Amino acid sequence: MSSDERQHSKFEEALEVKSLRRIISAYLNYSEAAEEDVRRYESSYKKLPPAHKALLSRFPSKCQRLRRCISINSYFILNMLQAFEPPLDMSQDIDICEHEHLEDVSADHLPCEGRDFCSCPSASTSGRTCFPETNQTHCGIGSNLICNSQKEMTISEDVQVQNFCGSVNGNLSSNSGYSRQSERAGCDDVKVVDNDMELNSVYGANRTASSYAHDWLDPSLQLKVPLVDVDKVRCIVRNIVRDWAPEGQRERDQCYKPILEELDRLFPDRLKDRPPSCLVPGAGLGRLALEISCSGFISQGNEFSYYMMICSSFILNHTQTAGEWTIYPWIHSNCNSLSDNDQLRLVSFPDIHPASAGITEGFSMCGGDFVEVYSDPSQEGAWDAVVTCFFLDTAHNIVEYIEIISRILKEGGVWINLGPLLYHFADMYGPQDEMSIELSLEDVKRVAFHYGFQLEKEKTIETTYTANLRSMMQNRYNAAFWTMTKRQVKT
Ligand SMILES: C[S@@+](CC[C@H](N)C(=O)[O-])C[C@H]1O[C@@H](n2cnc3c(N)ncnc32)[C@H](O)[C@@H]1O
Repeated sequence: MSSDERQHSKFEEALEVKSLRRIISAYLNYSEAAEEDVRRYESSYKKLPPAHKALLSRFPSKCQRLRRCISINSYFILNMLQAFEPPLDMSQDIDICEHEHLEDVSADHLPCEGRDFCSCPSASTSGRTCFPETNQTHCGIGSNLICNSQKEMTISEDVQVQNFCGSVNGNLSSNSGYSRQSERAGCDDVKVVDNDMELNSVYGANRTASSYAHDWLDPSLQLKVPLVDVDKVRCIVRNIVRDWAPEGQRERDQCYKPILEELDRLFPDRLKDRPPSCLVPGAGLGRLALEISCSGFISQGNEFSYYMMICSSFILNHTQTAGEWTIYPWIHSNCNSLSDNDQLRLVSFPDIHPASAGITEGFSMCGGDFVEVYSDPSQEGAWDAVVTCFFLDTAHNIVEYIEIISRILKEGGVWINLGPLLYHFADMYGPQDEMSIELSLEDVKRVAFHYGFQLEKEKTIETTYTANLRSMMQNRYNAAFWTMTKRQVKT
């Protein structure tokens, strides 16, 4: 490697460390941002005339309940971060301010603010939010994950999830104020936990950096991130419900079930000793990839968001039992609630224990940009099936996505798609001129035919995406569902 190349790769790594620090900071800023919201509610309440206040006498106690819910959400987040093993040396000096490309990762710079992996109609952003490319992940997340040169992480049945409570420098022992399951009875029954106590038990009051489970969790190293980053954490919480909570079952039935049924129909004779392979680009929190694995495929999820990968790695690798964790996913919006109890209801997850779900050997999560990773010549004709669920519209150039899907499929291979065409980079009037090719469904199909696909099945499926079941507002998609096969080339 020339010294120029070495310098370039060092710089790239520094960018990634900075990007990862920003994401970790967003997770760590979650609690403070949520607290700030509650302070705002209280401040509005204080401005009420006494007669109005008297009518809303339960409001102060709702704020206290909100605080407890925030603490419990933060507790989960902190456990998840403690389990995270960054694939990069987080201690390295990342002073890259002088560098010409600094704007690529500046904490203030969000070229595609407000869009990417989730639709959060009730969060302050609208539409899905997206990340700058520097948020792309690489392998190595999670101590239990095996990583190969393809930025790939594998979970296997013998992966043993560690007992988290008490395993990280003893900081998260069950006397931290929560037992993981103690909150199940309902928000009113939530053990009252002093917020300071919880944070002290995780971080330890007045600790020195060297005594943190990870130096990179040291609050003094954390960045103050823009609120839009914290919104991404709130979106992750909603994605947990979609993928891993009993409440998400309806959405999973709408989105994942038709895909699984189609795979089952198309690969009826799945041999245990030679299972077909299936790739799931934009795998989110990994549930669909796991279900595909459990139904007898060598399944690989691909995901480029560290927000997603940190969380999916924790759920897949560190969960010990079904229902081990609880969160309050819906506390961040007071809008469209039928009751406070609806808004403050807890959700326990995961609904299944991933390690005992019956995965097929070879299940993996591969971190990185779909275009970059699967453009590699080694991927040509490598897959029996590709499944895209709410993914196609994440493309800058959807034609490129389709071209790659076609190239990596074997002849006769199957592409199953479900999703809308809510192009993530549409209507982006940021400082960067983001490329965004926005085609109609008709044109998407035309492009697919050009790349050798043949339409086998097509329908519309009505579905939601990370919806709050009990909200008065439900965003529905008439999602396109299709199965296409890659035509065999006659010789
Ligand atoms: C709308 S979400 C859908 C997640 C999941 N498939 C589901 O149905 O819940 C789209 C996902 O694709 C990921 N993504 C977007 N662009 C990507 C890319 N170029 N490579 C890999 N993943 C990408 C996002 O981070 C996000 O997790």
